[in-house]
Amino acid sequence: MPDDVIKYASESQGLISGVALPEDDGPDILSLRPERLSDYVGQEEIVETLRIAIQAATQRNEPMDHVLFHGPPGLGKTTLAHIIANEMQGNLTVTSGPALEKGGDLVGILTHLDAGDILFIDEIHRTPKAVEEFMYPAMEDFAIDFIFDKGVHARSHRYRLNRFTLVGATTRVGLLSAPLRDRFVIFRSLDFYNHDDLVQIAMRSAELLNVEIDTPGAVELAKRSRGTPRIVNRLLKRVRDFSQVKADGVITQATVEGALELEGVDKKGLTDLDRRYLKTIIEFYTGGPVGIEAIAATLQEESDTLVDIVEPYLLKIGFVLRTSSGRKASEAAYRHLGFRIQGKLFS
Ligand SMILES: Nc1ncnc2c1ncn2[C@@H]1O[C@H](COP(=O)(O)OP(=O)(O)OP(=O)(O)O)[C@@H](O)[C@H]1O
Ligand SMILES: [Mg+2]
Repeated sequence: MPDDVIKYASESQGLISGVALPEDDGPDILSLRPERLSDYVGQEEIVETLRIAIQAATQRNEPMDHVLFHGPPGLGKTTLAHIIANEMQGNLTVTSGPALEKGGDLVGILTHLDAGDILFIDEIHRTPKAVEEFMYPAMEDFAIDFIFDKGVHARSHRYRLNRFTLVGATTRVGLLSAPLRDRFVIFRSLDFYNHDDLVQIAMRSAELLNVEIDTPGAVELAKRSRGTPRIVNRLLKRVRDFSQVKADGVITQATVEGALELEGVDKKGLTDLDRRYLKTIIEFYTGGPVGIEAIAATLQEESDTLVDIVEPYLLKIGFVLRTSSGRKASEAAYRHLGFRIQGKLFS
């Protein structure tokens, strides 16, 4: 699979996962991206940290410190990288860990950065080790060390880089090597958005897309968006089509319900894959605990997909519990799926 499509979800993960799909790069979805910190909804603490870092760096006339963002897909990591570049008035160069196959790929990018530029590396935990080693001196000393010859004849030459800011994003901070992680000065985790923020994002995006949405419509959309702005935007587009064809164009609670029923998104925002995951634990493994590999094998899905995309939200809403012996379905999950609860399953 070519690199540029790796980050997109496979068809089987469904439209409603938080993962990027080709349609997310369409012009009208891209236009929904907030461009300044002041447009960014929610994540107040992160916004405040960045506001201070940006202001301090600007006053000192220096590039901002390197930043690492961690969090499930679709919560705004890439958006924040764009915002930092806009606020710092630097150029943004975008790449990703898997796209950097050889040291030369990274060196080529680094040597073309101007002072104050922002380099965004998505999925930074997937950067090959050999490439990562070029990052250490680049981040710390704004330099690249070239080694010529081997053994006793080895010589190294230091090449100076312009001072830049590295913004890294990862869905799996645990997979990041300690030396790389430690070289980021600012490290922030993005959490799922709260209900009010999602309502606000739905309203904002509807306005930008020039569609009318009433408050109950925005509330219903927010409830079904798994705490994720990308899903708000994606569902909004589906609902817009539905409202236009089946109603008078205004997005209401009824059109959101009608449209999302067709998409297989239930009242909690769970998709077919979420429900199959929960049912596997409940039906095949009597509620758990069961290891992730066993669930993945039964579902015929990659365990990474389950860990990165399915589980974060189910853990967040307490439908799944992670114990030392594996995953367990919670009482709330049984109830949501309409299973009878057998008391002995809950110790
Ligand atoms: N705070 C926000 N306010 C409004 N819209 C937002 C916000 N954060 C993200 N979005 C919207 O959600 C979409 C997805 O965000 P983004 O691409 O930044 O996610 P991501 O965290 O980089 O995801 P991935 O891990 O898949 O790369 C954006 O197109 C943007 O329109
Ligand atoms: Mg991204």
